[in-house]
Amino acid sequence: MPLAQTSIARVSGPQCPAGILAQIEAIFFEASANPPAPGPERDAFRERWLGRYLQGGTDVLLVALAGEDTVAGYLVGALEDPALQERFADIGYFRADFAGLTRRYPAHLHINLAKTFRSQGIGAGLIEAFADIVRQTGAPGMHVVTGRAMRNVRFYQRCGFVACGSTMWNCRELAFLGRSLPPDC
Ligand SMILES: CC(C)(COP(=O)(O)OP(=O)(O)OC[C@H]1O[C@@H](n2cnc3c(N)ncnc32)[C@H](O)[C@@H]1OP(=O)(O)O)[C@@H](O)C(=O)NCCC(=O)NCCS
Repeated sequence: MPLAQTSIARVSGPQCPAGILAQIEAIFFEASANPPAPGPERDAFRERWLGRYLQGGTDVLLVALAGEDTVAGYLVGALEDPALQERFADIGYFRADFAGLTRRYPAHLHINLAKTFRSQGIGAGLIEAFADIVRQTGAPGMHVVTGRAMRNVRFYQRCGFVACGSTMWNCRELAFLGRSLPPDC
């Protein structure tokens, strides 16, 4: 398949056009391993890993667009240390296991691409765009938490993340991958 031409846009979550949001949501559920069936549990799942990052404030939504309105993928992230924020208290590993690491790598992200746009370097572009935003805040680093045995670990390592810790959570072994962001000279 030919490589897709994409551009990356930072979009305000609350002002995101409905058509773009619907594509982001479809990509999110398609990329999730075992999303709950429609109902309150599915709504909570969406809120935890996607919806809370779309409320505005300092949170970041980056969209990779192929053409004007086809979403190839997205990245959502938060800039401040999640172990210190009440809104992330439901994700126990931040405080229980990784609080020392989140101090060093406070920003965190979630990234997903639509199937047909994977393995074309688009994800790396989203990561670099987020890194630029985090660097501008003066934060010393960013992190991602993923399954230790997941194929995407190689992707993050190629993007400069280093495995710093691991823990068991909901019967899965998770890896904490951190990337330092020294300020531009
Ligand atoms: C992980 C992901 C964001 C990387 O973006 P990308 O543009 O495809 O990445 P690149 O083209 O720069 O690099 C390719 C690497 O992406 C990862 N990747 C590609 N397809 C993947 C898939 N279906 N599942 C997991 N990782 C995948 C692999 O690490 C791959 O390297 P490999 O071929 O050596 O295994 C994207 O592939 C994706 O959305 N995958 C599925 C969902 C996912 O794993 N999201 C991250 C959750 S923590």
